[in-house]
Amino acid sequence: MKTHFDVIVVGGGAVGMSAAWRLAEEGRQVLVLERGRLGGEASGAAAGMLGAQLEVDEPGPFYDLCLASRSRYPDFVAALEERTGIDVQLVHNGILQLALTPEQAAVLQERMAWQQLDGTRAEWVDGADLPAWEPAAARAIGALYLPDDGNLSAPLLTRALAAVVGRLCTVLEGAEVMAIRGGETQVQVQTVTDTFTADHAIIAVGAWAKILLRQAGVECGIYPVKGQLLAVRPPRGVGLTRTLVTEDVYLVPKRDGTIVVGATEEHGAGFNRDVTVDAVTALWSAALEAAPGLAGAILERTWVGLRPGTLHGTPWIGPVPGRPRLLLAAGHFRNGILLSPITAAMLAAAVAGETWPPLWRHFLPPAAVIDGEA
Ligand code: GLY
Repeated sequence: MKTHFDVIVVGGGAVGMSAAWRLAEEGRQVLVLERGRLGGEASGAAAGMLGAQLEVDEPGPFYDLCLASRSRYPDFVAALEERTGIDVQLVHNGILQLALTPEQAAVLQERMAWQQLDGTRAEWVDGADLPAWEPAAARAIGALYLPDDGNLSAPLLTRALAAVVGRLCTVLEGAEVMAIRGGETQVQVQTVTDTFTADHAIIAVGAWAKILLRQAGVECGIYPVKGQLLAVRPPRGVGLTRTLVTEDVYLVPKRDGTIVVGATEEHGAGFNRDVTVDAVTALWSAALEAAPGLAGAILERTWVGLRPGTLHGTPWIGPVPGRPRLLLAAGHFRNGILLSPITAAMLAAAVAGETWPPLWRHFLPPAAVIDGEA
């Protein structure tokens, strides 16, 4: 078996596979090492919202990065469909954030104001007009409408990425990485059974980054943030055309008519994967508060995803300080799907030795990442 590659990507989630795909298309020989199966963790479990404007609370580099990645999505999925024949069901249906109290209305109007100032589209929908927009939704005071946020099917996205990566790269599933060495001039990656070398290695292992990076002598504070979700099939003739969001829940309508309801955000649960009755009940009761018209929906399935959380809330992307050939794509937290296209572009540019634009440099791993202070 070949043991030297241009790039080894450790982690076969959306971020790792997007990077591997891009690097392979640029002519690099890429090995993808995945501990379980491609797309088998948080990426495949995601609700698939492209919520650049939903997920960020203030203007700044992170907001700009999210917007930049969202704008790459149409071309990204078109290229993916061209190569794999898989339609990942990208829809630009917008997101409605409901204001159920005057306090929530004030918060949302403030968000609308800074987003409009920033040049992004955000509109206020009066409560009286909401039934015409979404007949199943609650009678709210009003709603903030984010027309340019969208969603896709995360399971289909990971399946398509797995297909393209399987065609263009060497892929080993069930390949747990035990040690990573080097990073100054070359990188050595050891699995349970094999040792590989590469000019660069990319670590994109989601919630498992802290454990894996420790083996490489890099300390970081990434930890799992459990999210429980459910999918329901609404009663015949009832549905949503846009994603509905309140402070307690989001409801994401999929093109097949199902609605994904999510998600808990559990910071102390470690790698626990239990679906609890309490969480499902709380999510569904918040869902009915947001959309009473969905009463009587059929429960299709429940599941868990483990997000990679960070204390500072934004990802680290790029070379580890002092180890230019060891690259991180870590801490994408709630935005791994959204940020995959731009993260892939950033990593590919770093591997090529290109100078990054100023925006991207905000996300370089700081020196503190290597000694555990970040
Ligand atoms: N992006 C939604 C979530 O992480 O729950």
